[in-house]
Amino acid sequence: MTKKRPNKKFRKIILGIETSCDDTGIGLVTTDGELIGDLKFSSAQIQAQYGGVVPEVAARFHADQILPLTEKLLKQYDVSIAEIVAITYTEQPGLIGCLLVGQAFAKTLSWLWNIPILAINHIAAHIFSIGLTEPIVFPFLALVASGKTTSLFHVKSFSDFELLNATIDDAIGEAYDKVGRIMNLAYPAGPKIDQLYNDHLIVPNLAQQPPANKPFSYSGIKTAAINYWKTLDHDNLVHSQQLLATAFQKWVIKSLMRKIDYYQKKLNLTNVAIVGGVAANQLLRSEISKTNLKVALVDHQYATDNGAMVAYYGAMLYNQDK
Ligand code: KG4
Repeated sequence: MTKKRPNKKFRKIILGIETSCDDTGIGLVTTDGELIGDLKFSSAQIQAQYGGVVPEVAARFHADQILPLTEKLLKQYDVSIAEIVAITYTEQPGLIGCLLVGQAFAKTLSWLWNIPILAINHIAAHIFSIGLTEPIVFPFLALVASGKTTSLFHVKSFSDFELLNATIDDAIGEAYDKVGRIMNLAYPAGPKIDQLYNDHLIVPNLAQQPPANKPFSYSGIKTAAINYWKTLDHDNLVHSQQLLATAFQKWVIKSLMRKIDYYQKKLNLTNVAIVGGVAANQLLRSEISKTNLKVALVDHQYATDNGAMVAYYGAMLYNQDK
């Protein structure tokens, strides 16, 4: 939720624009990193009928929503153009048509209002999204787990972060969504699989865990999930969904935990941040809470794509340039 509003008299505000996938997000953060507010329109439910995000459809929703959302947000928090010191937008990575809508909008505002513009890396914005709700302590291990990304980073500062491991095929959220499709769950299936998970069910180990230092990969577990689904008796659909959800989620979260453990020990890091849509996962949250790590879990509200994280990271970079 929105924190205490900074004294209006001294506000210097960064406007953040996020359009990398199916969420149109607009955020306002002060240069001190204090969140003023944000608004989001998600086309995910509308896209569920296609079984996933159709880039062209998502881009059209961004084009329709971006201006009314921005106007509404500025009005809601009584922000004047004079208070905005920089406009930040997601430059990459993402769906190209969607990114272009955000970029064109940001450039237009920058030109109209004569305000500097700053291009932001989407993954970095996710990594530092934890700063929206708690102070950031460097160095830390960051797990970015979303529908588009599965990566681990060694983060030393706002501008110095090293990629340690990344997926060689699907992203983790994408694997959840695809396995969801096997069992007739609507997109996005991640939260539904998480709900269907039942620790009391006896399920087989779907696949061997690869060594922790090997890249993330979800193609093998997807095939194993399809094969397991074929062996189940579907008279009681919910029960077979629970079985596959449990077997799949057990494997996936164990593999995440093994990698976190490996890099945390190797680099002697005690602080871990988990960001991206999959950070909402209940089993992941429960397993990580059993470790001795100091864990920063992104707030549910900011785990998925949003404009506030773009504005927040923009604010940190703006300060570095001063
Ligand atoms: O960060 P996000 O909005 O990024 C992308 O759009 O890529 O994350 C969305 C992804 C989807 O794939 C969704 O199925 C997954 O995050 N997700 C989850 C959970 N909540 C969302 N996956 C597993 N467990 C969850 N509770």
